[in-house]
Order: sequence, then C-alpha cells, then structure tokens
Amino acid sequence: MESMNQEEFERAKIILSGSKKVLVFTGAGISTESGVPTFRGGGGAGVWRGMPFEQLSSAEMIERDLPLVWEWFDYRRGVVSEREPNHGHFAIAKAQNSDRFEELILVTQNIDGLHHAAGSHDVIELHGNIHQARCLSCENLQYLTEVGEDERPPVCSECFDSMRPNVVLFGEALDEDALLKAYEKAAACDLCIVVGTSAVVYPANMIPKIAKREGAFVIEINPEETELTASVDISVRGNAAEVLPTLLVKEV
Ligand code: OAD
Repeated sequence: MESMNQEEFERAKIILSGSKKVLVFTGAGISTESGVPTFRGGGGAGVWRGMPFEQLSSAEMIERDLPLVWEWFDYRRGVVSEREPNHGHFAIAKAQNSDRFEELILVTQNIDGLHHAAGSHDVIELHGNIHQARCLSCENLQYLTEVGEDERPPVCSECFDSMRPNVVLFGEALDEDALLKAYEKAAACDLCIVVGTSAVVYPANMIPKIAKREGAFVIEINPEETELTASVDISVRGNAAEVLPTLLVKEV
C-alpha cells in the first residue's frame, strides 16, 4: 500500500477499535478492483446503439420504449454478472457477520449486487439493484432469475402488468423507505465510513453529513480527494480493496 497515508490509517484503526455502531456507505469505487468502471471516471459516459447513457437510463425512456430500456439493462447486467466481489466487499461482509461491532449497517449507491454476492445482508441499496425487476403498477419486486429472460418487458406474476428494471433512473426519486432508513441509521451511528464515492449525488450524499451533524466520527477511504474530504475527520488515501481488509477485519 505504497500510496496510502499511513498515519491517517493508523488513526482510523484506533477509532475503529472504539466504535460500536458503524455505518459503511459505499459508491462505485468499491467495485473498481472488481472491474466495474466508476461513473465519473468514465464508466457512465458513452453511447450505446447511438443513444447517450443519460437518455437510455432515464425515466422518460421507460414511457417511450420499455423494451429498449430492458435491452440496455440486460446488456449492463451481463457485464456486471461476469464480475466478482473483491477484498473490499468481502471485508465489509466479514465484519458485518462477525461480532466485532454491535451493529454494522451497509448503505450503497451501487446497483451491481456485489455486496450481496460477498455475503453482506440487509444492504440498503439506495439506487436499486440491476438483478431485480419491479412492477409498474403494483411495485411487486422480483429477482430476474425468477422472472427469466424470455419476456421483455417481463410480466408481473401478481397483477400481470409490465415490469421495469429496479434501478433509479435519471429524473427519478429514490425509494423513500430506503432513504429514510439510511438517514435514521446515519443519525444513530457513532462511526460512518465512506468508501469509493465522489459524494456529489444528492440525496445519497447527505448520509455522511447527517452522521457528522449528529456527532459521529467520519472516515473517508478514497485514492482521490472528494467534495467530502474537507469535512471528514480522517481521510485515508488508498484503494478500498487494500485498505478495508486491514481496517475492518484485523483489530489494533
Ligand atoms: P463516482 O464515479 O462519482 O465516484 C467514484 C469514486 O470512487 C471517486 O471518488 C473515485 O476517486 C473513487 N475510487 C476509484 N477507485 C477506487 C478504489 N479502488 N477504492 C476506493 N475508491 C475509489 O461514483 P459514485 O460516487 O458512486 O447514480 O456515484 C454516485 C451516483 O452517481 C451513482 O450511484 C449513480 C451516478 O449518477 C445513479 O445511477 C442513480
């Protein structure tokens, strides 16, 4: 870990050893070592079938051409499905499933499902999950493994209306229950660890701010400086897959 600022890392380890209620908040950067490109690092930019990413992934496209939206998300899901969780995802899952902390709440902006694949449970997925479909009428939620590949759009098994990908698109609001739960947990934690997010997308980026305002210690893990850096207590400069296993799993 040559690029890491060792002193900050050591301070972070000490803080962790005294923390009971921990909230880990992740973004695209935690999946970098799994080969999933970040958004602002170029992963989100681009064109598919002559259409810009922002247009394909928009609420408007759901109304205009739902089969095309499915084609696009089936393609993206295919790419993500070839990826595997990395040491960062596994370290979080291991800490969550151990008795190191009284509670470890995991909130993510990622839709790739890699936290779940690593063994984490009760993941609060603020932007949805690319492996799920949701009914346009009754909100019934199903994994695509249950729905199958044959019909696009898939038909809801409850009310027989069409289903859409269960992801938050440009121009859409986040799931209110998920957001409120994340805010509540942020207000109640004593340590908030922010991993691999540029922290520019509202309202998810309120989570570390709420935690800080309510008295929690905030640690950021990111190889780059972000909009959050100036307001956190400790900023560990490093890759999630390298920093997290030592930070979360091994005690001081
Ligand atoms: P971004 O692409 O904005 O930021 C990724 C962050 O990860 C950057 O700050 C990188 O420096 C950092 N990073 C890169 N490699 C890393 C590594 N190996 N370890 C740790 N950090 C690393 O992605 P997000 O902040 O997740 O929303 O973007 C938030 C939201 O913007 C996304 O969820 C998406 C997008 O609009 C929706 O799709 C609704």
